[in-house]
Amino acid sequence: MNQDQYVLAIETSCDETAVAIVKNERDLVANVVASQIESHKRFGGVVPEIASRHHIEQITLTLEAALEEADLKSDDMNAIAVTEGPGLVGALLVGVNAAKALAFAKGKPLVGVHHIAGHIYANRLEKEFTFPLLSLVVSGGHTELILMKEHGSFEVIGETRDDAAGEAYDKVARTLKLPYPGGPHIDKLAAEGEEVIDFPRAWLEADSYDFSFSGLKSAVINRLHNAKQKGEILKPEDVAASFQASVVDVLSTKAYRAAIDYGVKQIIVAGGVAANQGLRKALHDKFEGTDTELLIPPLHLCTDNAAMIAAAGAVAFNQGHRAGYDLNANPALSLERYGQRSDND
Ligand code: KG4
Ligand code: ZN
Repeated sequence: MNQDQYVLAIETSCDETAVAIVKNERDLVANVVASQIESHKRFGGVVPEIASRHHIEQITLTLEAALEEADLKSDDMNAIAVTEGPGLVGALLVGVNAAKALAFAKGKPLVGVHHIAGHIYANRLEKEFTFPLLSLVVSGGHTELILMKEHGSFEVIGETRDDAAGEAYDKVARTLKLPYPGGPHIDKLAAEGEEVIDFPRAWLEADSYDFSFSGLKSAVINRLHNAKQKGEILKPEDVAASFQASVVDVLSTKAYRAAIDYGVKQIIVAGGVAANQGLRKALHDKFEGTDTELLIPPLHLCTDNAAMIAAAGAVAFNQGHRAGYDLNANPALSLERYGQRSDND
């Protein structure tokens, strides 16, 4: 008898239709991502209706591609996991309904997964967790510091009070007339420029682990506007480098302070902005030689994918969590509340 456990996961919370399969919680055997970025680019951001329509077109093909990549059948799966939130409601609904249909048709258990829990668990495909750990979540919709004392438990100790880090990247990129999503473009430009503009750092109150990026975003937009009015030439690479220096300084300094204050064994970086070369280097420099181990996922596991949902879903499944056929998309699902849910939801 085959003793291996397989969990198939579906992720459709934003603009990637993704299906992945993990074996025995940590072994990735299939990872298929159908990106819609090209369709949203000309609008400068994700258009929810277009996203939903693409998910509907892609979901069956993506499911088939993942099973083929793993050389497995849906009957071989032990559970079906799916992102239930947060995200765009219409986009989430496509994944949730596909997962429900598959679980029902094949008589498999269904497991709901929080998108951010997924981003965190992407790291466990690379390295086993050691608790307590701190996760710095930096994505297009979230900027949070999350303390985990055990699997499936999440305590938010700091969060953004306005824009998420990725959102600030995308808005500044739009002002610099860079394509969507702007984060990777700014990252690339920043590496070619110098920090010649002293943009503000929002440290907030001395003991706060919260973040704020809207002031920085406005400062960049205002500086560009003033330069244009005065006919002053600002090099886009220097603007990018100066903006990135401010974001990275605040993120890495707060993450370091929280890691020391909470005496964590690991610091885990999660979400699309974890792909940022400046942030990766700053964190590496800060934590090198300390007792805190730094984990950053490889680039393909930083941005949205279903491998991370499978990794988190397998743990939730083995902890006994099961969703019913009444599972619904929850666009504003709270991570802390998700961690505290009862076994049968
Ligand atoms: O986690 P993710 O794929 O989707 C959400 O759940 O939001 O994150 C997408 C965000 C976008 O804002 C994108 O610009 C940003 O991650 N991003 C980056 C980089 N790569 C992606 N930001 C800065 N530097 C990067 N290299
Ligand atoms: Zn994400």
